[in-house]
Amino acid sequence: MPQRIVAGNWKMNGSRALLAAYFTAMEQGWAAPRRCEVLLFPPALLLSESIERAAALGIRLGVQTVHPEASGAYTGELAAEMAADAGAQWTLVGHSERRAACGESNDGVAARAVAALRAGLKPMVCVGEVLADRRAGRAEDVVREQLEAVLTTMGEDLCAGAIAYEPVWAIGTGETASPEVAQAMHAVIRDILGAASKRLLEVPIVYGGSVKPDNAAALFAETDIDGALVGGASLDAAAFLAIIAAMENHGNP
Ligand code: 13P
Repeated sequence: MPQRIVAGNWKMNGSRALLAAYFTAMEQGWAAPRRCEVLLFPPALLLSESIERAAALGIRLGVQTVHPEASGAYTGELAAEMAADAGAQWTLVGHSERRAACGESNDGVAARAVAALRAGLKPMVCVGEVLADRRAGRAEDVVREQLEAVLTTMGEDLCAGAIAYEPVWAIGTGETASPEVAQAMHAVIRDILGAASKRLLEVPIVYGGSVKPDNAAALFAETDIDGALVGGASLDAAAFLAIIAAMENHGNP
């Protein structure tokens, strides 16, 4: 059975002050999860500040992207090795905001996932279609192409990581994919993984896109939704705790 995961992606939000208050609120409301792993992807500059308090709660930390190379003349970039050295255990790769704003191609995303494994980080590979693809009936094809680029490069090594299905039209818009729509794509993703290797059936597939306390339980009840990658709501400790509780209490069997 795939590991359940509830992950928070802070994107380019937060400060040292917000982080301190956040961990205080998390500590006060924390009930150690029994079913799911909790991950937090703060901005890289807040990583070292997060280590001790995250570790005390059993929260694992990650960065939001890594560069394919281990070092070199890449101003402003972050190597997977550096993230691991700073205490990260995970990294996002291929978030749609980076695909769109930084021109990360399917092959570039695969190279980043390989770099993550090289450095001992677990990659959470983000896939998802834009609204125009969905309207044109191309959603599955787009997600398949994104996944296959990673599978071709990584094969069963992807067992170390996770997939996040984030339909771009549902990110930051308040428009969540309905549990049925999300489940349908998660089932397609599971099939693609299983066709590549039976071992890949164990890769967690989490959903992202306007996940909130009031819609999390319905999403988590779906067979192939193994958790969530939460953006905006993960910045609010009470909301993030409520989403973790929804997974603990209502996650798929
Ligand atoms: P929101 O939860 O703010 O829609 O963001 C989702 C996301 O992009 C997480 O990576």
